[in-house]
Amino acid sequence: MATMADESNPPRRGFRATWRRLILRTRAARRRLTRPVRRAVPKGLYARSLIIIITPVVLLQAVVAFIFMERVWQQVTAHLTARLVGDIAAIVDMLETYPQDAAFAEITRIADDRLGLNVTVLPPEPLPAAAPKPFFTPLDQVISREISEQIGKPFWIDTVGRSNLIEIRIKLDDHVLRVLARRSQTYAPNTALFIAGMVVTSVVLLAIAIVFLRNQIRPILTLTAAVDNFGKGRPVPDFAPRGAREVRQAAAAFHDMRERVERQIDQRTAMLAGVSHDLRTVLTRFRLQLALIEESADVAALKNDVDDMNRMLEGYLAFAGGNLGEDPVPTDVAALIDDLGEAGRVSGRDVRCSFSGDPIVRVRPQGFKRCIDNLIGNAARHGTHVVVAGRHADGQLTVTVDDNGPGIPFEEQEAVFKPFYRLDDARDRDQSGTGLGLPIARDIARSHGGDIALSDSPFGGLRVTVTVPA
Ligand SMILES: Nc1ncnc2c1ncn2[C@@H]1O[C@H](COP(=O)(O)OP(=O)(O)OP(=O)(O)O)[C@@H](O)[C@H]1O
Ligand SMILES: [Mg+2]
Repeated sequence: MATMADESNPPRRGFRATWRRLILRTRAARRRLTRPVRRAVPKGLYARSLIIIITPVVLLQAVVAFIFMERVWQQVTAHLTARLVGDIAAIVDMLETYPQDAAFAEITRIADDRLGLNVTVLPPEPLPAAAPKPFFTPLDQVISREISEQIGKPFWIDTVGRSNLIEIRIKLDDHVLRVLARRSQTYAPNTALFIAGMVVTSVVLLAIAIVFLRNQIRPILTLTAAVDNFGKGRPVPDFAPRGAREVRQAAAAFHDMRERVERQIDQRTAMLAGVSHDLRTVLTRFRLQLALIEESADVAALKNDVDDMNRMLEGYLAFAGGNLGEDPVPTDVAALIDDLGEAGRVSGRDVRCSFSGDPIVRVRPQGFKRCIDNLIGNAARHGTHVVVAGRHADGQLTVTVDDNGPGIPFEEQEAVFKPFYRLDDARDRDQSGTGLGLPIARDIARSHGGDIALSDSPFGGLRVTVTVPA
C-alpha cells in the first residue's frame, strides 16, 4: 500500500510540473514569435486606435474593389467586346457577300458612320507577328476569344500600341480587314473614377475618425499627466472629468484617491507633529526639574537621555513635516550641491562636488537640500573623503554621494531606511544620531517620484544614489 501511495503521488506532481512547463514554454514561444509585430506596432493609444479604425476600412474597401473589378468590370468588358466583335463580324459578312471593290467604299463609310469603326480593306498580305505584350492584359484574351467564336478566321490584335485605339486585323480569303476601334468601345473606363472615389471617402472617413478620436483620447492623456504628476509629488491642477463614461469614472476615482491620500498624509503629519510637540513640552519640564536637582552622575545620565530624546523628537518633527507646504520649483541643483559641499568643507571634511547637464531641475528646494545634506552628513561622519556627483540627463536627475568609510553590509542596506534604525551601535555610539537621516532622505526622494539606493562605493565606503525624474 505504501508503495502505491508513493507511486500515485509523484506522477501527479510530475504531470502538473510538465503541464506548467509546457504552458510557460508556449507562452515564451508566442512572445518570441510576436515580438517583431509588437515592436512594429505603435505604442501610443492614439496611433493604436487609428490603426484599429483604419485597418477594417482599408480591408473592406480592398475586398469591395477586388469584387467590383473582378465581376462587374469584367462583365461589362465582355459585353462591350462581344458587341464590337459582332459589328466586325457583320462587316466581314458584308465584305464576303459583296466582294466588289466599289462596295468596299460603301461598307467602310457605313462602318464609320454607324458603328464608329475605322475600317480599311488591305491587299492580302500576311498578318504581322504578334506584338510583344508588356504585361498580361485580360482585354486581349476577351477579344481573342470573341473573334475566334464569332468570326473564326486568322486575326491579329494590338491593344497596347496606340493610346486610345485598338487595332484588329482579320485575314479574309483574298483581303485583310483592318479595324481601328476606340478603347472605350471595349471596356468600361470609369475604374480610375471609382478608385479615386474610394480614396476620397477613406480620407474623409479618416479625418472624421481622427477628430472624434482626439476628443476621446484627450481626457485619457489629461488623466495620465495628472497621475504622473501626483506620483512625482507635483501639484495637480484640478480638471473636470470628460470623455467616455469609463474615462470619467477613472478620473473621478483618481480624484477620490488623491483626496484620500492627501487627507491621510495630513492626518499622519498632524498627529506626529502633535505628539512630538506634546512630548517636547514634557521634556522641557523634565530638563527644568533636572536643572534644579543637585548635580550627580545619575542626574548627568538623565540629562543626557533627555537630550537624546529631544534630538529624536526634533528628527521626528522634521520627518513628519517632511515636505509640507513646499511646492516643486525650478531650482539650481548644481548650486545647491556646491553650497552643501562648502558647508561640509567648513566643518573640516574633504568634500568634492561636481555636476553635469542642465542644473535647473524642478524640486522642492528645502526638502531636496535636507535630503542631500543628510547624505553628505552621513558620509562625512563615516568617512574622511566625500564625493558628490550630480547628473541631469534623459529626464532624470541622479545624485551620488560616495565616501571612503566602512560602508554598510548588503544585508543591512534595506534596514537602515527604517526610522530610528542605527547600525552597529558600538561603531558610533558616541556620535549623535537618531537614525532618521536616511528615512527622511528616502521620504523626500519618493515624494519627488524618485528613490534612494545604496551600493558599494568605488572609494571603499558607501555609495548613496538619489534618482529623481526631472
Ligand atoms: N555613509 C555611511 N557609511 C556607513 N554607514 C552609514 C552611512 N550612512 C549611514 N550609515 C549607517 O546607517 C545608519 C542610519 O543612518 P541615518 O542617517 O538614518 O541615521 P544616523 O545618521 O544614525 O542619524 P541621523 O542622520 O538621524 O542623525 C547609521 O546609524 C549608520 O550606521
Ligand atoms: Mg544620518
